[in-house]
Amino acid sequence: MANDRGKSGAQSGLMRISTLNLTPSTEYLRSASSRAPPSSDAPRSRPAWDSAPGGGVGRVFGYGSRVTEFAQPLREQDVASDPFEQFARWFAEAGEAVIRAPEAAAVATATPDGAPSLRMVLVKQTSEPAFVFFSNYDSRKGRELAANPRAALLFHWDALGRQVRLEGVVERLAAAASAEYVRSRPRGSQLSALASHQSRPVVDRETLEARVEELAACYAGRELPVPDFWGGYRLLPDSFEFWQHREDRLHDRLLYTRADPPPGWKLVRLAP
Ligand SMILES: Cc1cc2nc3c(=O)[nH]c(=O)nc-3n(C[C@H](O)[C@H](O)[C@H](O)COP(=O)(O)O)c2cc1C
Repeated sequence: MANDRGKSGAQSGLMRISTLNLTPSTEYLRSASSRAPPSSDAPRSRPAWDSAPGGGVGRVFGYGSRVTEFAQPLREQDVASDPFEQFARWFAEAGEAVIRAPEAAAVATATPDGAPSLRMVLVKQTSEPAFVFFSNYDSRKGRELAANPRAALLFHWDALGRQVRLEGVVERLAAAASAEYVRSRPRGSQLSALASHQSRPVVDRETLEARVEELAACYAGRELPVPDFWGGYRLLPDSFEFWQHREDRLHDRLLYTRADPPPGWKLVRLAP
């Protein structure tokens, strides 16, 4: 079902699924002071996580109580009926807040027998029905996704006391759309992707750098080839959970799941 849903999108390619481009490029490198303040009534500065007790070895990582200053209630009557729209609203607010790389997300995969693994990626685009990230198809995640094409994504925007969890089926982006994205990357990134057999052992750093130099010399003045082992993944969420930090740990959690029968989404509140 989910695969069928995704097919037309996959074939339509990367550029058409551009409702929300999640690449703020170097936006997050701008100083905090040059940023626009959050559009909500939230306070204008980042909470002071440093105020957590302890320090150095054995430090206690306190989830600072000041986050409660930022906690905006997450109410059923305020959220969008479409979770993609709700995600777009929260992503825009994360962009307005002092959050570095709000498009960074943890992606969890698992082997067919259920052993999980987790790592960060940059989610480049999202639009109904998919969230798109790029990676090496022969990496550990790539091999796990080939054998078990389901994944979970987690965005965490601590300055807003928010997380968003997504789960769903994953499929490869159409090759032409992946190639288009690869060619849009800086040449250095393209060379690194070509030279790197992601997740495989390398003898040492020098070997890796020598391979990059070799490729740079080989393709000097020419367009780099698009590696067939590198490209996009589309996660087609069948659930979204929006989590908002609230006072006394009485957090808000709203879960969207696909309506049965489709179309649309069902919304339920979960206990914190
Ligand atoms: C903030 C951040 C963003 C990252 N973005 C990507 C990405 O978009 N694609 C990717 O393949 N690896 C990315 N990485 C590296 C991955 O976390 C990971 O090291 C790599 O993909 C290999 O993972 P695997 O061995 O589980 O397949 C990123 C790491 C960080 C910390």
